[in-house]
Amino acid sequence: MHILHVVGARPNFMKAAPVLRALENVGQHRQTLVHTGQHYDANMSDVFFSQLEMPAPDVNLEVGSGSHARQTADIMTRFEPVVLERRPKMVLVYGDVNSTIAAALVCAKLGIKVGHVEAGLRAFDWSMPEEINRVVTDRLADLLFTPSEDADANLVREGVATEKIHRVGNVMIDSLVRLLPVAANVSRNGFPERYALVTLHRPSNVDDSEALKNIWQSLVEMSDSLDVIFPVHPRTRQRIAEFGRSTGKLHLSEPLPYIEFLALQSRAAIVITDSGGIQEETTYLGVPCLTLRNNTERPVTVSIGTNVIVGQSKEKLRDELAKIVSGNGKKGAIPPLWDGHAGERIASTLSRMPS
Ligand code: UD1
Repeated sequence: MHILHVVGARPNFMKAAPVLRALENVGQHRQTLVHTGQHYDANMSDVFFSQLEMPAPDVNLEVGSGSHARQTADIMTRFEPVVLERRPKMVLVYGDVNSTIAAALVCAKLGIKVGHVEAGLRAFDWSMPEEINRVVTDRLADLLFTPSEDADANLVREGVATEKIHRVGNVMIDSLVRLLPVAANVSRNGFPERYALVTLHRPSNVDDSEALKNIWQSLVEMSDSLDVIFPVHPRTRQRIAEFGRSTGKLHLSEPLPYIEFLALQSRAAIVITDSGGIQEETTYLGVPCLTLRNNTERPVTVSIGTNVIVGQSKEKLRDELAKIVSGNGKKGAIPPLWDGHAGERIASTLSRMPS
């Protein structure tokens, strides 16, 4: 079968790499990789291709940044001729970014089958652009590959036929499992022994200057007693330009490559984030995670894993941090099927389909 994969933004790469590899190992498929160019900085894109050992994209749509409408429309306009020319039998889209919804919409209109990897996640928060992308992509998809039981339940509740739903586990964890031994060899040189690792890029936190200043104050306060390492996403970098610089034990850096970030995550005393994928990775690693959002589309990271939702409350953040620092942080377990073999399960589902 000719399978075309669409990736565009940083979290897509860790999800697509294991699926590409597993399909390659099956041997009976032709694969095409399209990069939309939603993320284009070397440290947001190229370095992930090399570290994850992904093939170079066959096509790069080079859409770059823009408003949601513009970025989504540009991807659609540039992707449609590629699909018409290459005529894949199946298009796989990943996660919840604008590249995902744009590609799914093009394919649905052209009558080309769409498989959505990481289907069924819901934050039940329509103010998140990613939630809109998730719901619409799932509605358009023919095959829905889910990471966890809650995702299946969400889809069934929304009326998706059960035969379209395939619970395969967490593809992002496949990449983690494969590269954790490599990350273990990354030198600790220059890094503090005990530290909090911070990431921040959600519009609800960084586009609202009041919310962002509050978080910044919490980080500065936290760095009185604990080193804080904060690789800064480009969206956040723009927003903190006026006041955001390293001071004392607060260390800002550029976004990090996958392996270096994984090394930092696995050794962190605590991770503070608003990312979806990092809530999952910390759960797998057993590292306490405090999520600076009011909800999560990944509830198993709370019910089974190490994640605690702290929202935007400085007090709650301080309390939860104190618990962790005193050794009373949440302990967790690894959810079912987060085992490094999700990509293989997707490949075997696709390989059973008539080509
Ligand atoms: C996107 C995803 C988000 C994901 C995140 C991971 C959507 C709606 N959002 O958010 O779900 O968690 O990626 O990073 O798709 N920029 C650069 N260089 C780059 C990429 C972006 O400087 O390589 C800057 C641009 O100024 C851009 C801004 O970052 O305007 C935001 O990028 P964009 O892709 O629009 O959204 P993200 O915030 O990265």
